[in-house]
Amino acid sequence: MTRSQERHVLVIGGCGYIGSVLVGRLLEQGCRVRVLDALLYSNGDVAADWIERPDFGLMAGDMCDADVLHAALEGVTDVVLLAALVGDPICKAYPDEARRVNELGAQLVFDALHGRGIDRFVFFSTCSNYGLRADGEAALETSALNPQSLYAETKVATEGHVLARADQADFHATVLRVATAYGLSRRMRFDLTVSEFTRELALKRTLLVYDENTWRPYCHVQDVVKAVITVLQAKPDLVRGEVFNVGGNAENYTKQRIVDIVLGQLPGGDIEYKAGGGDPRDYKVSFDKIETQLGFRPDHNVAKGVRNLIAALKAGLFADADARKRFYGNCAIGGAHS
Ligand SMILES: NC(=O)c1ccc[n+]([C@@H]2O[C@H](COP(=O)([O-])OP(=O)(O)OC[C@H]3O[C@@H](n4cnc5c(N)ncnc54)[C@H](O)[C@@H]3O)[C@@H](O)[C@H]2O)c1
Repeated sequence: MTRSQERHVLVIGGCGYIGSVLVGRLLEQGCRVRVLDALLYSNGDVAADWIERPDFGLMAGDMCDADVLHAALEGVTDVVLLAALVGDPICKAYPDEARRVNELGAQLVFDALHGRGIDRFVFFSTCSNYGLRADGEAALETSALNPQSLYAETKVATEGHVLARADQADFHATVLRVATAYGLSRRMRFDLTVSEFTRELALKRTLLVYDENTWRPYCHVQDVVKAVITVLQAKPDLVRGEVFNVGGNAENYTKQRIVDIVLGQLPGGDIEYKAGGGDPRDYKVSFDKIETQLGFRPDHNVAKGVRNLIAALKAGLFADADARKRFYGNCAIGGAHS
C-alpha cells in the first residue's frame, strides 16, 4: 500500500464543497495534492491557505480540455474525480453543459488514466441514482438504479463507463455513491437540505418544505472525506471495480425528521409544507457493504451537524451568503473571474 508521503493526488473539483475539505485532509496526512478546478462558482479563494505550500498546486481549467487534463495528470499517483455540475437544479438549468462535463468530461478523465502508473481512481457518484424506490427497502449497491433527474442520469452513465472498464484498467477504480452531504466547508453550499433548513430557520425565515415524508440518506462532509481516505488506503482487491454507498444506516431521514432535528435546536420556527415539489426522489440506502468490507462507519450525525452550523452562523460566519448566492450554492455557473 502506498504511504501518504509517496502519494501525489490529483483532486479534480478540489475547490468545491467536498473537494476543499478533502484537500485539507490529504495535505494533513502528508500527501502532495494538485487541484484541477474550473472555478465555476468563483470559488478559487478556498485555496488561498494552500497556494504557497510546496506540496500543493492549483490548476484553474476545464477537465474536458484534453491538453489541460494531460498536464494535470503529469506525475500524479492517484486521482479523485469530484468535478461535475452537481445537483438537479444546475443540471436542469444547463443541460448541455451537464452532459458535457458529467458524461463526456468524466469519461475522458477515466480514459486518460491508462498507462500513467496511476494507483487509485475514485469516482464520485451519488445515492440519487436510486431515485425512487417503490418497496421502501434500503437500496444495496446491487439494487436497480432509477434516476429521476438529468443529474442522476449523467452519473449513472459515467458509472457504467467506469465499471465496464474497471477490470481491464491498469489502475484500481472505485465508484462511491455518496449520500446528500452536510457539514461545514470552505465552499459552503446552502442549497443542500440540512444546511438550507438550518440557515433559513436560524435567520427566522419561513421554511418552505416540499414532500416532507420523502426519505433520503445524509452524510457529514468529514465522513465523506474519511470514506475517500479509506478507499485510497484499502487493499486493492477490496476496492478494485467496486461500488460503495457512502453514509451510515442510521442517517436515513425523512425531510420532516430533518425539520424536527433543526426545530429541536431552534424552537418556534415557521414551516410551510407543500406537496408536489418536482423532486420525486424517495429512497433509503443500506451502508452495510462499506462497513463490512472496509470497516467504514460515519463519526457524525445530522443533529451534531446542525448544532455546529448554528454555532457557526451565530458566530457570524457565512454572513455574505445572500449577497454571494453563486458562491454558496449551485445556482448559476461562470468562469474563474465572472
Ligand atoms: N454535495 C453532495 O451532497 C453530494 C452528494 C452526493 C454526491 N456528490 C458528488 O460529489 C462531487 C462533489 O460535489 P460538491 O458538492 O463538492 O460539488 P461542488 O459543485 O461544490 O464542486 C464541484 C467542483 O467541480 C468544479 N468543476 C465543475 N466542472 C468542472 C470542469 N469541467 N473541470 C474542472 N472542474 C470543474 C467546480 O468549479 C466545483 O469547484 C460531485 O461529483 C457530486 O456529484 C455530492
